[in-house]
Amino acid sequence: MARRVTIEDYRRIAKRRLPRFVFDYVDGAAGDELTMRDNIDAFQKIRLYPNQQVDVSRRSTATTVLGRQVEMPVLLAPTGLQRLVHRRADLEVAAAAGRAGVPFVVSASTAFTIEEIAANATGDLWIQIYPWRDRAAVEHVVKRALDAGYSTLVVTVDVPLLGRRERDVRNGMSIPPRITARNLYEGARHPRWVTHLLRGPEITFTNFSSFVPDSRGMALMSWVNNELTNPGAQWDEVRWLRSLWPGPMVVKGILTRRDALLAVGEGADAVVVSNHGGRQLDGTPATVDVLPRIVDAVPDRVEVLLDGGVRRGTDVLKALALGARAVLIGRPYWWGLAAGGSNGVRAVLEVLRAELDMAMALSGRPTIESIGPDLLAPPD
Ligand code: FNR
Repeated sequence: MARRVTIEDYRRIAKRRLPRFVFDYVDGAAGDELTMRDNIDAFQKIRLYPNQQVDVSRRSTATTVLGRQVEMPVLLAPTGLQRLVHRRADLEVAAAAGRAGVPFVVSASTAFTIEEIAANATGDLWIQIYPWRDRAAVEHVVKRALDAGYSTLVVTVDVPLLGRRERDVRNGMSIPPRITARNLYEGARHPRWVTHLLRGPEITFTNFSSFVPDSRGMALMSWVNNELTNPGAQWDEVRWLRSLWPGPMVVKGILTRRDALLAVGEGADAVVVSNHGGRQLDGTPATVDVLPRIVDAVPDRVEVLLDGGVRRGTDVLKALALGARAVLIGRPYWWGLAAGGSNGVRAVLEVLRAELDMAMALSGRPTIESIGPDLLAPPD
């Protein structure tokens, strides 16, 4: 068995285990994938200045996010259609997140229902929705999440239309996957994946299927764009959602000071600096490069989270030093899910936790609170 040391190792395993069109759905991004690569490159360019001879014999990665305890400042980002890679999909991810003591942001675009996921979870669950064009569908999902005990609402604002992910277009990606000669060939090469495909619930958007026509046979992109996205949505949708949700509200998909302030003006308790992992507008900057401006723009009471390109414990450390309260990971936990279900997701989280702990020790920052901008500046 291949050695599983880094997150990149899990990516390699997922690439082997999944049919090409599924791996590409996860791994790919919009256009030339410039932004996706930039997210990673920008982290790699940041340099760290450690403090030596600090007592780091006792360390803790624990902190709080929006007032709730987390074992480390890493959350699982909302990602739709996990059912494509595992028969128990979101249920496995929820179990892993609970064991690791980190929140799982559940996408409403899941094959399992909000209630089924809650029933299998032991930790903090957040719910993510898009301001779809059908307000009744949005309200239905939000109310159910509230009843099921989800703590926090995440509104993703960077999808007026689904970005054009050219790998999906080339692969003819549809929901559920179509039976084509190429897909049959891919299936024959990945029998374990076929077993997962056949044994779980149908791959559809269960939570709001009664509000939208059947997706069967349609290309993923045209179905989502015809039925779900809301190119007319403006900030008053966020205001309306604020009125539906008594708990903390987070706005995800912020890249400018302007939008950060608008989100805060509509009642956001936190914003996620995100370019959707490069899956929406290609050419947007790396999230870690815009993070300091957003941190600077919003009032202190507003927490700033970041996602995109976090692959190492040192990336978490860098984001925190630049003022992020926490980061989210997307693709890395899918690779864990594909490699080994709940245990795979747990293992990916443990790689990050151990790397973060090591980086904290070696940089003389034994607690999350001790991580600050001086870690990125030369000491004199
Ligand atoms: C996503 N993302 C996403 N975001 C969101 O708000 N709702 C969603 O349903 C999805 N779905 C989704 C599916 C897949 C397969 C991926 C890879 C991503 C974006 C996600 O929340 C996050 O912003 C990025 O994944 C972060 O970048 P990294 O960690 O993947 O580099």
